[in-house]
Amino acid sequence: MRFVPTVCLRKGMIVGKRLYNKSGRVLIYENTELKQYYIDRIRNIGYTGIYINDDISKDIEIKNVIDGDFRIKAVQSIKKIFIESVNKNKISNINVSESKFLIENIVEDILNNNDLIVNIIDIKVFDDYTYYHSLNVAILSIIIGVSLGLKKESLYKLGLGAILHDIGKVFIDRDILNKKDKLTDEEYNEIKKHSRLGYEYLKRNGNITPKSYIAVLQHHERFDGKGYPNRKKGKKISLFGRIIAIADIYDALTSDRPYRNALLPSEAIEYIMANGNSMFDSDLIKIFVTKIAPYPVGMCVRLSNNMTGIVCKNFEDAIMRPQIKIVKDKNDEMVEPFVIDLRNDKNYFNVTIVEIVNIY
Ligand SMILES: [Fe+2]
Repeated sequence: MRFVPTVCLRKGMIVGKRLYNKSGRVLIYENTELKQYYIDRIRNIGYTGIYINDDISKDIEIKNVIDGDFRIKAVQSIKKIFIESVNKNKISNINVSESKFLIENIVEDILNNNDLIVNIIDIKVFDDYTYYHSLNVAILSIIIGVSLGLKKESLYKLGLGAILHDIGKVFIDRDILNKKDKLTDEEYNEIKKHSRLGYEYLKRNGNITPKSYIAVLQHHERFDGKGYPNRKKGKKISLFGRIIAIADIYDALTSDRPYRNALLPSEAIEYIMANGNSMFDSDLIKIFVTKIAPYPVGMCVRLSNNMTGIVCKNFEDAIMRPQIKIVKDKNDEMVEPFVIDLRNDKNYFNVTIVEIVNIY
């Protein structure tokens, strides 16, 4: 399987991973041949790209940290929790239990997964951004938590704070949240209220532990004290607040937003690394960058020796140096595919990945 941006989709391509519509129903099953009307629907729903299967990529397997169907169910549950929270003074006990159930499942899945590298290009449906984002922030936060050796009970609390970190946005004017143009100072100040509003909303509920709702309050605090709402600094920000801050920014940067296009994983990682100890806790960043593949499996890349190939395996100890299945030679001609290993093969130690490309 390989990742193909929506603009590069062509009739006759074979869908590699099933796609869902906005209500969580299957839109196109895996192994379906693309027709023009499918391509139009994929574009209209707002998918930035999809996984396809073809001869050059059929032996490349894309493993999701969380299974596809569960992921969609989780997004639907989060949507329900957010929608029900509007106009309510308190989160209902049913919703608290549902969130806890979701988190327990995610923690189990992550703990049972030996390969903890996030190796997938996330394909979100644009309209449901907040819900996909909440789930991704929970997954990324739990992965950091597992790497820190946190116990299950702590992982549940971390995950609950992460999944609900932006719940306060339900109390903010939608027109401001979705505004495409630059925000006025007044509008930005309005949006900034969401972390406190979320915290107060969850605190009113006796069923949520302080560690979770304090993380919600602090997810926009910054390590250098320049965040909000309380301009807390360094380790005065709770561990969960510091973890969620990193997960939140990574997922936000790699998503299409009304005011800008998504960054590539490699670009988002560079942004976060550049802000270690100013915006974020650099000890946590050191862990985070070993868990996120800058060039996820299935991505097509051009190398500094002009060869083109598909990323087929990533290594935690050298995450910038994956295995690549070469399909085009230096002259851009298709070749009998062969795999090179940027991490272990000394013939390629001086070769680097220079850009993400599409293969026709
Ligand atoms: Fe937020």
